[in-house]
Amino acid sequence: MISLGRSKQFAINSRCLRHAARTQFAVIRMKVAFIGIGQVGSALAGQLVKLGHTVTIAARNPNSDTVKTAIAKYPDLKVASPPAAVVDAEVIFLATPFAANQSALEAAGDLAGKILVDCTNPIAANLTHGLNNERSGSELVQSFVPAAKVVKAFTIYGFENFADSSYPGYGNLKPAMLIAGDDAAAKKVVSKLCEELGWEPVDTGNLSMSLHLEHMTLLWIKMARVQGLGAGFVWAMLRR
Ligand SMILES: NC(=O)c1ccc[n+]([C@@H]2O[C@H](COP(=O)([O-])OP(=O)(O)OC[C@H]3O[C@@H](n4cnc5c(N)ncnc54)[C@H](OP(=O)(O)O)[C@@H]3O)[C@@H](O)[C@H]2O)c1
Repeated sequence: MISLGRSKQFAINSRCLRHAARTQFAVIRMKVAFIGIGQVGSALAGQLVKLGHTVTIAARNPNSDTVKTAIAKYPDLKVASPPAAVVDAEVIFLATPFAANQSALEAAGDLAGKILVDCTNPIAANLTHGLNNERSGSELVQSFVPAAKVVKAFTIYGFENFADSSYPGYGNLKPAMLIAGDDAAAKKVVSKLCEELGWEPVDTGNLSMSLHLEHMTLLWIKMARVQGLGAGFVWAMLRR
């Protein structure tokens, strides 16, 4: 390793940051934690770790099948207890079964000020909205962690698309990732992560818009998995 003086090192770091700001897909490495590392969690964590982010699984049981499967596939993933994983994380993904959200968040501890990406969906019997269409799941999640900055994202498609977002043959048109949240700065960070992961982030508004995103999820599941269209489709945003 070449050792540089402090001022030279500072100049190089500043140059890197300016270059990163100019480059659309430049990756600013972030500390990310995952609560839930099953189909959705491992797909997203795997892509983020490949991009160079530091990704830690907040594991209630480090020897669980989902943790072992994710590590076998993406050996650069780190594992820690939930409180240890989230304490340093800038962004935390919640990818647990909806009914487990509250206990999983309680086990993680203090999330005040953290960006919490809610990937979960309240789905009830016969593919209906689990909160009777009256309140979004993400608002319920926000009520569990009032001081966190909840952004709903990575919910409206199947996990297969989070593992591979490429839809070749459409030129510059990217698949759309609809997001919602009350904190503008948090949505900017999540939008940047969406771009790095190959999506066009589409900000649909405040967190209460999640109710509509959850219905898009039901639409996607019924088309893809019930009617047999298959998981290999997403939506795009056309504007004029
Ligand atoms: N599957 C999809 O295509 C899809 C797409 C979009 C959104 N979603 C939503 O994403 C969420 C996760 O779905 P998934 O398919 O990834 O589920 P999954 O494969 O069953 O994985 C669930 C993960 O949550 C963990 N978990 C379960 N109960 C927990 C608890 N009480 N405390 C802490 N961790 C717990 C599990 O850990 P253990 O291994 O230790 O049990 C596992 O790592 C759901 O809310 C779902 O609606 C799913």
